[in-house]
Amino acid sequence: MSSKKVMVVTGSNTGLGLGLVRALLKAHGDDAIVYLTARSQERGQQAVEQLNKEGLSPAFHLLDITDEDSIATFVDHIQETHDGIDVFIGNAAARISPDYSKAEQIEAFINTNNHGTHRLIQQVEPILNDDAHFIVVASSFGSLRNLDEKLHPLFDVETKSLDDIDATMRDYTQLVLDQKDVDYGYPEWMNIPSKIGQVASNKIFAREMQQHPERNLHIHSVCPGLVDTDASRPWFDDMSNAQSPDAASVDVLWVLETSIPNGELIQHRKVIEWQP
Ligand SMILES: NC(=O)c1ccc[n+]([C@@H]2O[C@H](COP(=O)([O-])OP(=O)(O)OC[C@H]3O[C@@H](n4cnc5c(N)ncnc54)[C@H](OP(=O)(O)O)[C@@H]3O)[C@@H](O)[C@H]2O)c1
Repeated sequence: MSSKKVMVVTGSNTGLGLGLVRALLKAHGDDAIVYLTARSQERGQQAVEQLNKEGLSPAFHLLDITDEDSIATFVDHIQETHDGIDVFIGNAAARISPDYSKAEQIEAFINTNNHGTHRLIQQVEPILNDDAHFIVVASSFGSLRNLDEKLHPLFDVETKSLDDIDATMRDYTQLVLDQKDVDYGYPEWMNIPSKIGQVASNKIFAREMQQHPERNLHIHSVCPGLVDTDASRPWFDDMSNAQSPDAASVDVLWVLETSIPNGELIQHRKVIEWQP
């Protein structure tokens, strides 16, 4: 087995994920094996070839975060090939479009972003090395400040379990399908409850890992700010304030250096408060 650090980014064939892999390779390429992962072999290989042309050499593995078997196959590969993972960045997200209704998109969106985060926490946690980083790319929307106060108890990260958050996100999905989400108190924009659920799950993971201080895991959620990608472009007329994926990766990867307490959501090197 190699003594090199193992770093993994999900959904890294394009967008911010590709920028993160590029930045990790440039910063740690000699001392680390950096996995570019994708749900599509073809799109993944295309991204690998793009980085190869830049003189960078990522490892590649398929990884579909909606598929427990795909995650299990990846975990098996890591266990057989390396000791474990030192840096895991959950970046993958389902893309949504203003051209389709919320009801048409909500199931894939929540299954990928929320249940996918839960799957990764459960399946990847056992292979995180001591001192490893587990980072979820979320958004500044992922704070209770953006949610009606009456819904806050659903996301009480001191008492709720990961299964509770999954149940809440399933209920939210059904409310959207029934067009009752806004009457129930949820905001119109489905990214807000989803990112709150994602950050809540990672906070609960951090809380659970307090039982294992000897592992010294570093668990954070990060908002990259507005990034110019195929996912964000359809939503904004003016992208002049957006960073490139390469530029946005700098502040995201800064969390690998921080001593900010576990569970916090961080944007541009500062904590975004969870409570109003
Ligand atoms: N862009 C922004 O302004 C912005 C702002 C705040 C937060 N973020 C967050 O940053 C992250 C990256 O966003 P982005 O703009 O780079 O999005 P993007 O360009 O749409 O890239 C998303 C990546 O996730 C992959 N993916 C989708 N479903 C997957 C699945 N089931 N399993 C594995 N991978 C899957 C996509 O693969 P395919 O190519 O196969 O679809 C793609 O590689 C997301 O978590 C997003 O919420 C972005």
